[in-house]
Amino acid sequence: MDDRLGELLAEGLAGDGPVVVMTGAGISAESGIPTFRGEEGYWTVGSANYHPMEMATYEAYRRMPEEVWRWYLYRRSVCRRAAPNDAHRALVHLEEALQDRFLLITQNVDGLHRRAGSSAARTFEIHGNIDVMRCERDGSRHLIPEAIGEAWGPSSPFTDEARSLLSGCCPGGALARPHVLWFDETYDEENFRFHSSIDAAVGAALLIVIGTSGSTNLPMQVGAIVARRGSPMIVINRDPSPFSEMAERSAAGYFCHGPAGEHLPPIVARLTGADRS
Ligand code: APR
Repeated sequence: MDDRLGELLAEGLAGDGPVVVMTGAGISAESGIPTFRGEEGYWTVGSANYHPMEMATYEAYRRMPEEVWRWYLYRRSVCRRAAPNDAHRALVHLEEALQDRFLLITQNVDGLHRRAGSSAARTFEIHGNIDVMRCERDGSRHLIPEAIGEAWGPSSPFTDEARSLLSGCCPGGALARPHVLWFDETYDEENFRFHSSIDAAVGAALLIVIGTSGSTNLPMQVGAIVARRGSPMIVINRDPSPFSEMAERSAAGYFCHGPAGEHLPPIVARLTGADRS
């Protein structure tokens, strides 16, 4: 390991606050889940092609709820068929070692961190979870019933049975919505841990940012707070990003340019002491 990276990790461990890890779609790319801003994402409704940025909106859901559900059930099937990878597992080891000094902020709705073994209490899913639906009337959250299955393809029709399974939890049998944060919505504490994430950034002894393009608001705020405070900040990304620029501008920053599966395990081994045992 590069000496400078080793020093920053040691400085982070010696600090007072939590070790905060913030992940994006790049950490799940090695599990075969397409990243959001890749080429694969278009969705066809009749003769129209919709970009994910148009589908993932409350406006689209209001206009065509069944189409938006079909898209989410298809993406949910892709996520359910994928398995956690070495980078997800490395973060589970880090949590086991650090316990309450560990905190994971993830933008991913794929649930792979939780399936790998990261705890619910220390994982903030700041964009929601594709396995969960939410009642618009009372705000309650429920797992999408298993009976809906994992075989949804791009042309699967939205059936009466699906409608009834997605309506079982709401007063009056109303259709629940996907529990995800859409582009025309804002973060809050109750659903998306907004204030808790900001507090974590303010107190962080070390921030590790993995696989995110820096296109969303709260993660950029978290990065900016840590950089401004001069706390150690390690960025692992396949491509340069606003976070890698932040790290390169900061005296306590370090950019690991490459895939998460390659760069994260040695960092975790250093933080847990496993590389010295
Ligand atoms: N290892 C590390 N980084 C990777 C890897 C990999 N194996 N593969 C891809 N990347 C990087 C890409 O270079 C890119 O910078 O991961 C980043 C993925 O960027 P996005 O697809 O934009 O995903 P993300 O940053 O998580 O998107 C943020 O925006 O679309 C919304 O709500 C959605 O949560 C999502 C949010």
